[in-house]
Amino acid sequence: MAEIVIVKDKAAAGALVADHIAELVRSNPETVLGLATGSTPLPVYEALRSRLEGVDLSRVRGFALDEYVGIDPAHPESYRSVITREVVEPLGLNPELIRTPDGTPEGIEHHGEEYDEAIRDAGGIDLQILGIGTDGHIGFNEPGSSFSSITRVKTLTEQTRRDNARFFDSIDDVPMHCITQGLGTILRARHIVLLAFGEGKAAAVAGAVEGPLSASLPGSAIQLHPHATIVVDEAAASQLTRSDYYRYAYDNKPEWQGI
Ligand code: PGA
Repeated sequence: MAEIVIVKDKAAAGALVADHIAELVRSNPETVLGLATGSTPLPVYEALRSRLEGVDLSRVRGFALDEYVGIDPAHPESYRSVITREVVEPLGLNPELIRTPDGTPEGIEHHGEEYDEAIRDAGGIDLQILGIGTDGHIGFNEPGSSFSSITRVKTLTEQTRRDNARFFDSIDDVPMHCITQGLGTILRARHIVLLAFGEGKAAAVAGAVEGPLSASLPGSAIQLHPHATIVVDEAAASQLTRSDYYRYAYDNKPEWQGI
């Protein structure tokens, strides 16, 4: 079973995950992180900033989950720009060690395979940070994605484009296609940490954690992973049926296990 950790708020989630990442990097300065964009992981990156004493992130390697196809990498909402602005610069990561999938239309049919190869060459992802979409997507693996998919081009759902329109002038400016790590790619990470906050994510979280394994809810792929940690606030946990047990299990967890 995935471990479900129900926390008070985003700040508590950020602190919990950032403590773990700091520890990971202390023990291996060349840790490979899977980096997520969107609003959800921001409390983690923010908390990590206050934990940099004695933690050198300059050799950490990172792979973003996804990128829009055809967006100018210099566009402020390209995930290359977002990762640079929200993660690389504030945390002092080496930009040369951080990759995003290549959304350039020329040769796009090969970019996915090349990306998965680069992840393999780096030794695989040690810790993958994930959010979840209101439609249940992880990365940009929209409903219907194969559990064994590799990094590839996907068409965004209308719902995702509506959700992301807040970053653009209008929904028409949200690209139609993306290149995303596949569910199979994500499942190869050694540890997955999925975060979700707010009522709007409650149905997707319940489906991913307690629903049947289904490509219709790509987040349910986490049930196949041997080490998945789901960190949610009360609102995002509100549709879970076994919250009492998750709290009980976490409260009684041997300390040496960490998350
Ligand atoms: P959000 O997006 O963190 O901005 O809510 C999550 C996702 O779409 O995976």
